[in-house]
Amino acid sequence: MGEFVRVEIEDGVATIRLGRPKMNVLNAQMQGEIAEAARQVSADDDVRAVVVYGGEKVFAAGADIKEMAELSYVTMSVRSERLQGFTKALAAVPKPVIAAITGYALGGGLEVALAADFRVAGEGARLGQPEIQLGIIPGAGGTQRLARLVGPARAKDLVFTGRHVKADEALAIGLVDRVVPDADVYAEALKLAERYKNGPAVALRAAKQAIDSGLDVDLDTGLEIERLQFSALFATEDQKIGMKSFVDEGPGKARFTGR
Ligand code: CAA
Repeated sequence: MGEFVRVEIEDGVATIRLGRPKMNVLNAQMQGEIAEAARQVSADDDVRAVVVYGGEKVFAAGADIKEMAELSYVTMSVRSERLQGFTKALAAVPKPVIAAITGYALGGGLEVALAADFRVAGEGARLGQPEIQLGIIPGAGGTQRLARLVGPARAKDLVFTGRHVKADEALAIGLVDRVVPDADVYAEALKLAERYKNGPAVALRAAKQAIDSGLDVDLDTGLEIERLQFSALFATEDQKIGMKSFVDEGPGKARFTGR
């Protein structure tokens, strides 16, 4: 349990709750706490899905500019590994992860959301990579994950201009997956997460790893990753349960154990 990041677990779903006044600005300590929270939910077998939530008003307005303003090249070249490390830890959570975005998700804040599998945004959300206006570029994975998600031209538009995108545009370009009234964002994200809590956890993990690893390699290597993951699932209890249930009762009735 960190000072700025809490993990709350209820009924198979963990919420990683960001809480640093004002604006959930991500200083170095908070980045470390997010990485720690990601490792905690990864290791806990009772956690089957994860929601990352910044509260009712703001998701996160980015890395702490005041903390970074005077850093030298030498210091930042060491710290930049940590900066990418905390979003890497989140992206590596081997379970479905949903970002619940209200208000601003800017810079490192958007990069946290990009490390999730799905993004639910409130109607009043504002998303962007405004780093160019500070004379820098996104440094917590934004240039890579944004381009993979929305394509290079749209990523360049957002990164070159630093402009804020409203929820409706974010939905249209695939930057978010669902837009709901601001007050419903967390409930909607929980609803999506709950879909997975009784799912075949090992198959969900394999699906996430095959898709994410496959995006980084050529097609043949990706297909090989899929083949190995696919075959390995025949060693799980859930594959036996899922197929027997289909044969005996028809589709969609399996009661998976997560093993
Ligand atoms: N770092 C440090 N402080 C920040 C901050 C940030 N990223 N974002 C907001 N704040 C602070 C403001 O300085 C202000 O503090 P004080 O009240 O002590 O003056 C407080 O939060 C509220 O901010 P505003 O008064 O500016 O509120 P607003 O409603 O007028 O504007 C905002 C909100 C649009 C988010 C605006 O604050 C803003 O543009 N923030 C900076 C966003 C940004 O550039 N993020 C990228 C950071 S760099 C990065 O993230 C690098 C990376 O890739 C990891």
